[in-house]
Amino acid sequence: MRKPFIAGNWKMNKIATEAADLVSKLKENVGSFKDADILICPPYTSLLAAQEAIKDSVIELGAQNMHWEANGAFTGEVSAAMLKDIGVKFVIIGHSERRKYFSETNQQVNKKIKAAISADLLPIVCVGESLEQREQQKEKEVVEKQLREGFDSLSQADLEKVTVAYEPVWAIGTGKTATGEQADQMHSFIREWFKKNFSDQAAEKLRVLYGGSVKPTNIKELIAKENIDGALVGGASLKPLDFTEIIKNSSLG
Ligand code: PGA
Repeated sequence: MRKPFIAGNWKMNKIATEAADLVSKLKENVGSFKDADILICPPYTSLLAAQEAIKDSVIELGAQNMHWEANGAFTGEVSAAMLKDIGVKFVIIGHSERRKYFSETNQQVNKKIKAAISADLLPIVCVGESLEQREQQKEKEVVEKQLREGFDSLSQADLEKVTVAYEPVWAIGTGKTATGEQADQMHSFIREWFKKNFSDQAAEKLRVLYGGSVKPTNIKELIAKENIDGALVGGASLKPLDFTEIIKNSSLG
């Protein structure tokens, strides 16, 4: 049985004071809730404020991106060691918005996963197809390539540190959620892929989150599916009551 994992991706929202305020509300709402792992991923500039605010709570801290090099002439970038240094534990890698707006490739995703793991950060690796790709029934082909290239030459020990998030691009921020059935089909495809390419044991342990317009009203249908182990939540993670409800509903599956 995999423990549910609910991660909030705040994207480019919340300055430091707002982050502290949001965390304090969330902290009060979730109390000592232990039936799901809870993560927030604020923007870089609010990480320290969030880190301070989550102290003595069950909430963990993550970042939304990182560079694969340890340091050097990469203007505007932040390394894994820099994140680790300020108490960050998780990092989202290969989000579809990074792939779409910043042309991130599977090869870069691969380098980032490796760099995160060697800096002792836990990567949450995003995969998912666009609407056009789904309409052409290429969703499995697309996700398979993202997995094959993204997880190239990673070991089973590496995989133990990883969480995967399936986020169909057409469901992100659009209010359209994949049905539990659609999501579960892709989640089982993803788990099968890891069974084939890593091991049964590693694939069974791996948590695969669903992302794309997750709300308090649809989390129960999603989490009830065998291969859906939690959610990567964008919009609703900025609303403390909604996010709390998603967290609490996630352990009812
Ligand atoms: P959304 O975003 O919940 O606002 O659709 C999800 C994500 O991009 O991680």
